[in-house]
Amino acid sequence: MKLTYFGHACFEVEIEGIKLLFDPFISPNELAKDINIASIKPDYILISHGHEDHVADAERIAKQSGATIISNFEIIEWFNKKGIEKTHPMNHGGSWDFPFGKVKYVTAIHSSTLPDGTNGGNPGGFVVESNAGNFYFAGDTALTMDMKLIPMFTRLDFAILPIGDNFTMGVEEAVIASNFIACDKIVGMHYDTFGYIEIDHEQAKEQFIHNDGELILLQIGQTKEI
Ligand code: NI
Ligand code: MN
Repeated sequence: MKLTYFGHACFEVEIEGIKLLFDPFISPNELAKDINIASIKPDYILISHGHEDHVADAERIAKQSGATIISNFEIIEWFNKKGIEKTHPMNHGGSWDFPFGKVKYVTAIHSSTLPDGTNGGNPGGFVVESNAGNFYFAGDTALTMDMKLIPMFTRLDFAILPIGDNFTMGVEEAVIASNFIACDKIVGMHYDTFGYIEIDHEQAKEQFIHNDGELILLQIGQTKEI
């Protein structure tokens, strides 16, 4: 799999040539100003919850790429009303087999109101299983015991977890989350974008090393084989 970071919580994962884009928030992100949004052409856009810092560029990228949006039922209805018809609604605990692999929509402890005040359902994360490997994109979430359910079904190769604190779990909880999900390769997200979530990168990496794990912090625009 190929992992590209577009800043904040926005990642593209390429699985055998199929591109999955998560939580596009690029144009309002000063740190991601060098990213050329017009060049982003995913096959699927997966949206964890309704907040602006996860949906900002979803409509534009869906329309320029023809990508299918995957999210919870309420968020899909919101995009349908914007004229985006290629969508797939899910809800918590449900799985679906897509051409690239199986997606399960799982619990996140957070909130999910859409930018215009529309109810964005309940927030979630995604567990993706594919021939190329398995991963978990947690979305915005607190540490929750529900994470322990994930390794009962899926052996993860890596996980993308929020580490910025204040709006989500911080590094200390993310280390415990990595134990709950039985995954020692963690990619950090949801840090540094705003003043509330700035973190010390080296200290964060050390906390994972002390737990016999690894924290990967990608540069914005960086692609990594994973
Ligand atoms: Ni949020
Ligand atoms: Mn957020």
